[in-house]
Amino acid sequence: MPRSVFISNILNEEARRLLPTDWAVDYNDSDLPLPKKELIRRLQGKDGLICHIISTIDEEVFAGCPTLKVVANVAVGFNNIDVAAAKRHGVVVTNTPDVLTETTADFAWALLMATARRVVEADHYARAGAWKAWKWDVLWGADVYGKTLGIVGFGRIGRAVARRASGFNMRVLYHDAVRADATAERDLRATLVSKDTLLAEADFVTLHTNLTPETRHLIDDAALRRMKKTAILVNAARGPIVDEAALVRALSERRIAAAGLDVFEEEPTIHPGLLSLQNVVLAPHIASASHDTRIGMATLAVRNCMAVLEGKPPLTPVQ
Ligand code: GLV
Repeated sequence: MPRSVFISNILNEEARRLLPTDWAVDYNDSDLPLPKKELIRRLQGKDGLICHIISTIDEEVFAGCPTLKVVANVAVGFNNIDVAAAKRHGVVVTNTPDVLTETTADFAWALLMATARRVVEADHYARAGAWKAWKWDVLWGADVYGKTLGIVGFGRIGRAVARRASGFNMRVLYHDAVRADATAERDLRATLVSKDTLLAEADFVTLHTNLTPETRHLIDDAALRRMKKTAILVNAARGPIVDEAALVRALSERRIAAAGLDVFEEEPTIHPGLLSLQNVVLAPHIASASHDTRIGMATLAVRNCMAVLEGKPPLTPVQ
């Protein structure tokens, strides 16, 4: 039976083409989030929604769109969707795990390396013509090889980050509500520790948890005070996991050494205190942004939407 789908923001043509030609597809070819009223208006009579994390899909949206059967988020994180409200309204929610795991882990490492070895500062220094002569003491950074990596959140991405650490001969600590099985711990040479131990012992703390009420401000002032003065914080998960104002204070007062951040509390706004600091590397939420991965995410979201509307189980439902 023909179905109708709303794609609320830009999506690759390769993925959109997968939708059956007799389905009605309303496509908003834009990067800008739709105001909620407009989103609800465009969803009238639609069976499916394919959306990005810039769309907030809450009780009001579900209540206002009674024909909706599936929301396919083009992201692994789904904190933009009220999953409990979806359940109440009988709407299936899907996300895009797996396809972005390696790319996101690569980018967490890119931030880690860039902050440790001051790559962005070095680029600015070279471009600005500041490099007049060889200098012994210019842009000294921190070693990565042989140091301690602390991974908060040991799911798919956290483990992919850990896998990369073996090439750097790092000691890997992790903190998670669920202990990994013995094989994973052995293969990844990773040790479960308390959050406080991880913060106190890690040279690099990298965040890979979902954003939930429990993980909001998991890295707050107290957590930052437990970290080493030489430690570097990396966040490629969700901005609100870190209390950004507390982070600005910690970085300004040099209570930690540096931070590499792909995500922020109020995206796309970046705390002004971060913008003026040298010891921070900033990125505009691009950890999964490689060509292949973005196509993979778009394709998986479309396949999830189609599966539900064709009466089949979704490939990657949010449980
Ligand atoms: C990106 O932030 C994602 O959750 O996929």
